[in-house]
Amino acid sequence: MGQLYLNKVQKLYGDFEVIRSVTLDIKDGEFVVFVGPSGCGKSTLLRMIAGLEDISNGDIVIDGIKVNHLPPVKRGIAMVFQSYALYPHMTVFENIAFPLRVIKMPEEKLREKVVSVARVLQLDQRLEQRPGMLSGGQRQRVAIGRAIVREPKIFLFDEPLSNLDAALRADMRIELTNLHRDLKATMVYVTHDQVEAMTMADRIVVLNAGDISQVGAPLELYHKPENLFVAGFIGNPKMNFMPVTCTAVGAEGVTIAFEGQTATLPVEPRAGLPGQTLTLGIRPEHTTLERGDINVTVMPIAIEQLGINTIAYAKLTTGEAYCALLPGSAPVTVDNAIVTGIRAADCHLFDGDGQALTRRVDPRHMGAIPAAVVG
Ligand SMILES: Nc1ncnc2c1ncn2[C@@H]1O[C@H](COP(=O)(O)OP(=O)(O)OP(=O)(O)O)[C@@H](O)[C@H]1O
Ligand SMILES: [Mg+2]
Repeated sequence: MGQLYLNKVQKLYGDFEVIRSVTLDIKDGEFVVFVGPSGCGKSTLLRMIAGLEDISNGDIVIDGIKVNHLPPVKRGIAMVFQSYALYPHMTVFENIAFPLRVIKMPEEKLREKVVSVARVLQLDQRLEQRPGMLSGGQRQRVAIGRAIVREPKIFLFDEPLSNLDAALRADMRIELTNLHRDLKATMVYVTHDQVEAMTMADRIVVLNAGDISQVGAPLELYHKPENLFVAGFIGNPKMNFMPVTCTAVGAEGVTIAFEGQTATLPVEPRAGLPGQTLTLGIRPEHTTLERGDINVTVMPIAIEQLGINTIAYAKLTTGEAYCALLPGSAPVTVDNAIVTGIRAADCHLFDGDGQALTRRVDPRHMGAIPAAVVG
């Protein structure tokens, strides 16, 4: 079992509240990713779970047992860091075997375990080499091997892939996902890379300045961000935001006025909105060169041609920045204005406090299979 419960966990450094009363229930076998900008408290929270950092208030409970005062070795967890923290003078075999030597496991059983872990991580041909002879990805796998061999209930990872190049990171993402499937262990993974979060997580926890901003499945966060912070953090390039005025609400949704146009967006209406300034959110990938329910004239100031896509960094007539992610063949050039069309169904809308008006999203877009298909 590897059930982890954080109950109102808080961390203070002097007067500075780094983690503000975080409550989170992580199920046995779940892969949970903490994301957030630099300094938001991801590593601090992970280190508190590991027992490497005291908690100021609240409880950390593993499998029903409060572990606040248990030392790291007694918590049944293993942690893998960005800096592999391997012993350079020891072979790969001895690095992986280290935690088993500490508990004085008999030689034969130890050898069996290390070899089997090395096989899983495709390190079996490297066992006699020293870390200095390995690539970054291989070294990280040794560090992961050293964590696995202890058969922890919970794995904690702090940006384990950030020292690797892009291709290796993509390989390791798949390896870690497979490893999670094979081991069925609980994994808590910290990253500021939202691609890692989107691709590996069962659930993502978005942290902002020591607070949980939203918790949800990757596609839930993408389609239904609850606030401006999550909307801007999940998705690359970032969601565009612009001020609009609400003119009416009704059963169809919320009607907004923008640059002399009006459109009714399929979001849950609320009383009191008409007359208010709201924030319209449009993802760059929902911008097309065809007419839409809303049409926005923009002036490209920089173009990036990636082959598969063309990214146009542009300005609205109001001077605000606007980014459009277009097909690779899109005929756009710098300083030639384009009209981009957006479907009402693709829009996000946020109130004056930055809270989202709930979108009516087709469940199929969120990874759910409609009942009609299942039946
Ligand atoms: N020992 C300490 N004393 C005082 N402040 C600290 C200490 N350790 C961390 N902090 C502060 O706590 C905040 C959170 O730090 P933390 O390392 O958890 O951030 P992070 O989200 O992991 O960032 P990054 O993505 O850069 O690794 C930061 O503002 C940091 O300066
Ligand atoms: Mg960190």
